[in-house]
Amino acid sequence: MSLGKIKQLDNRLANQIAAGEVVERPASVVKELLENALDAGATMITIDVDEGGVKRIRITDNGVGIDGEDLPLALARHATSKIASIDDLEAVATLGFRGEALASIASVSKLSVTSNTSDNPSQGQVARCEGREMEVTVSPAAHPIGTTLEIRDLFYNTPARRKFLRTERTELARVEEVVKRTALARPHVSFVLSHNGKVLHRLTAGTTEHDLQRRVIGICGESFARESVVVDRVAHGLSLRGWVGLPTFSRSQADLQYFFVNGRVVKDKIITHAVRQAYRDVLYGGRHPAYVLFLELDANRVDVNVHPTKHEVRFRDSRSVHGFVFSTLGRALADVRPADMDNRANLDQVGVSQPLESQFQQVSMGLEIPRGTDGLSEPTVSANALNEALRQPSSFTAAGSDRRGLSAGLNPGSSASGAMVPGVDVPPLGFAIAHLHGTYIVAQNAEGMVLVDAHAAHERITYERLKAARANSSIASQPLLVPMPITLTTLEMGAYEEFSELFSQLGLVVDAASDDTVLIREIPVILARDNAVNLLRDVLGDLAEVGHSDRLSARMDEILATMACHGSVRANRALSIAEMNALLRDMEVTENSGQCNHGRPTWVQLGHDELDKLFLRGR
Ligand SMILES: Nc1ncnc2c1ncn2[C@@H]1O[C@H](COP(=O)(O)OP(=O)(O)O)[C@@H](O)[C@H]1O
Ligand SMILES: [Mg+2]
Repeated sequence: MSLGKIKQLDNRLANQIAAGEVVERPASVVKELLENALDAGATMITIDVDEGGVKRIRITDNGVGIDGEDLPLALARHATSKIASIDDLEAVATLGFRGEALASIASVSKLSVTSNTSDNPSQGQVARCEGREMEVTVSPAAHPIGTTLEIRDLFYNTPARRKFLRTERTELARVEEVVKRTALARPHVSFVLSHNGKVLHRLTAGTTEHDLQRRVIGICGESFARESVVVDRVAHGLSLRGWVGLPTFSRSQADLQYFFVNGRVVKDKIITHAVRQAYRDVLYGGRHPAYVLFLELDANRVDVNVHPTKHEVRFRDSRSVHGFVFSTLGRALADVRPADMDNRANLDQVGVSQPLESQFQQVSMGLEIPRGTDGLSEPTVSANALNEALRQPSSFTAAGSDRRGLSAGLNPGSSASGAMVPGVDVPPLGFAIAHLHGTYIVAQNAEGMVLVDAHAAHERITYERLKAARANSSIASQPLLVPMPITLTTLEMGAYEEFSELFSQLGLVVDAASDDTVLIREIPVILARDNAVNLLRDVLGDLAEVGHSDRLSARMDEILATMACHGSVRANRALSIAEMNALLRDMEVTENSGQCNHGRPTWVQLGHDELDKLFLRGR
């Protein structure tokens, strides 16, 4: 039986099939058009949408424009000015390169493009795309240098697609999200977004680091600004900059997560995994971290031609990217002396009553923490530089310079490198005075009064010690009386072979027994009571999926955390002054000591001013 005669698809149908992948909704059109405008070097982009973008999307830019004679080509499939050879594809520097967005969009809408490459506005041309064969008609039209794309009646000729569109409000929200992301990545470009004739967002272009911070605050909100730390690290040809939310600023949704690779918004599982791992022991289970991060690397170290929407990338060396992101964020979070003013999330959790809330604070202790010897250059981190930008807009200078110096200069109360008040040798967390109700340590430092949750603090210190001990010595393993055989899938077996070395480092001794079976001979002592088979499977699953697994060490950390919790000072046991002081000194040199193992704060600072305010003492 034959399926019928084979026919060549007509041009429009071929484009409509391609559009299925790229053009899902108005927001995807906006994304493609914004990318084109940016690739054209635009510094000013206006986006007008009507009825959530379904009725009309119009985007105007002041980029280089398109020559009149090129206009029909711009609308043809597989036509691009951005790459010419396979070598170009290996190192794409522009956001676009597939040459199919305009053709796809044109096939499912009524499209017109007006453009001008000259400074004489009367030399513009307009191209309209119509008809089954998508013939393009070009005629003169006034336009300043740059390009305007107008898309009307999206999906008017593909009712099936149209049915999947949601309400005007939802479609608009997605368009806004696309504009936000793009704007975050390009602070030097101004964006104006209007809906049904009303301006919704006006983001002016900036040139300084402070402008970038203003844009981040405008898009991500002031609370993110207050409760985040700066990340800025360059090593191994990779650069990671941006902001990560403090663990206490976690969210119930993964809705404040922006990761850019070479200026491109990317959702990548290697990256997501690395970030999650970095937050692993400072975040409540089920909570999501917030971040805005920019990763830069050589264009030829990342393949952007993975999917038509270009949301995915493939790193040529994904393991080093994973390691770099994980270690940079891990270090940034560990270094946090949970800083800063008005730390509402912290305070809600310590149960401070409402009116006092904003008066408590944790200030930067500016301690020199001994560095791990991971052989990596140290990231520069400053607590809440964004917050400073919020309060002192004019005084912010370029970031990436000496951040410790910068934050110290802006925030004289929290001096760097442990130097407190000259002549007075008070440690950052001060000296203990009393143990309140067997729970809180009251201490006095140069800034005023410090309150510490003794159990939470001790738990973190014990945990960090146990982890360090585990990291420094090889992990003790114990042989199983009878080796345990496990049958693996081909994929799992492949992962086992590729990463077999890793297992021994973790105290697991696993041998291949046949093509599809391995034998577990030894397991780490600390994991003795765990179900080693399931764990091994999970680990192999991770390895096959993302080329990396932290399950084993995560499981060990969990066990260490439980041990730390049981081994730590219980509430209601009275501590002596000497014991309390010893605990304060330990906190000062322990990583992550600002939060307990569950992400709750361990201490708050109540400054002189705050104390005075409590008693209405004017100064
Ligand atoms: N806003 C614009 N300004 C200048 N040129 C544009 C603009 N939009 C599209 N073009 C031109 O049209 C071509 C096709 O665009 P598109 O279909 O999005 O493919 P791609 O961006 O992958 O090249 C681009 O390569 C570019 O030369
Ligand atoms: Mg494009």
